[in-house]
Amino acid sequence: MSWGLRNRLSRIIRPETGRTVMLAVDHGYFLGPTSGLEQPGACVMPLAGYADTLMLTRGVLRNCIDSHVDAPIVLRVSGGNSVLDDDLSNETIITSVEECIRLNVSGMALSIFVGSPHQHQTIANLAKLVDAGERYGIPVVAVTAVGKDMVRDARYLALASRIAAEMGAHIVKTYFCEDFEKVSGTCPVPVVIAGGKKLPEREALQMTYDGIAAGAVGVDMGRNIFQSDSPIGMIKAVRAIVHGNASVDDAYAVYTDEKAASGVAVAGGSGLADDRKI
Ligand code: 5RP
Repeated sequence: MSWGLRNRLSRIIRPETGRTVMLAVDHGYFLGPTSGLEQPGACVMPLAGYADTLMLTRGVLRNCIDSHVDAPIVLRVSGGNSVLDDDLSNETIITSVEECIRLNVSGMALSIFVGSPHQHQTIANLAKLVDAGERYGIPVVAVTAVGKDMVRDARYLALASRIAAEMGAHIVKTYFCEDFEKVSGTCPVPVVIAGGKKLPEREALQMTYDGIAAGAVGVDMGRNIFQSDSPIGMIKAVRAIVHGNASVDDAYAVYTDEKAASGVAVAGGSGLADDRKI
C-alpha cells in the first residue's frame, strides 16, 4: 500500500481512535431529491464540521459544497440507474479516477450487488476501481448494496462483505444485522455500517452502539442523521458513541441537549420518513 493511499485512508478512519463517522449524502444518485436532501448544501454544510468524511457524488460536491470545506471527501463513483428501475444492480463506473484527483478526494465509493442480476458486472467494477485507485493512491469503499429480494442477514452480508474485501476494497460498508460479529469477523478490512431507513433516534443510536461493539469501525450514516429533527444533535450523539465510547443513554442525552439548545421541542415526533428501496 503506497504512502499516499495510507495517508488518504487515515483521513477517512481517524488515527486517534481507529474509527470514523462518515456522513452519507449520496442518495440522490438514484433516488433524486430524497427527503431531507432537497437542498444538499443547506443540509450538509452545517453538518460538515462534525463528519469525518462526506460521501456524495461529484455533482453535489461541485455545485453545493463550499470548496473550503475541511471534511475529507469520499466520492461515489458508481451509478447509472434510478429508483424507477426494478433492478437497481445495473451500475457502471460513472466518474473517472482523474476527476477524483481533480476533486481532491480521499476515497472512492462503489456499490456491489451480490446476488442481484448484475452481480458480476458490479463486482468486476469494484476490481477495476481498486486497480485504478491503487495506481493513484486512492482507497476504495465498497458498498454492499442489498437488492430488494435479498435478506439482510449475517450469512448474506458476510458473503457480500468478504467478496468486496477479496476484490481489494480498503473499507467495506454494509448493514448492521443480528450476529454482526460474523460479518466483521470474516472481513479482513475495516467495516462500517450504513444507517438504513430512518429510525427513532434512540434506536439508531442503539444500532450504532451495537455495531461498534460487534466490530464495526464506524458508520457511514445518512437518513438517521439528516432526516432527524436535530441533525446536529444526532451526528454529535453518533460521534459520542463512535469516538467517545459513550453509552446509548449518554449519547441520547447529547442528542436531546442539542435539540433543546436549538429550540426544537424535545417531545417531538420520530421524523419517520419514506424509505423506498434502500
Ligand atoms: C446507498 C448508499 C447510501 O449512502 C447508504 O444507504 C447510507 O445511507 P443511509 O444511512 O441513509 O442508509 O450508499 O447505496
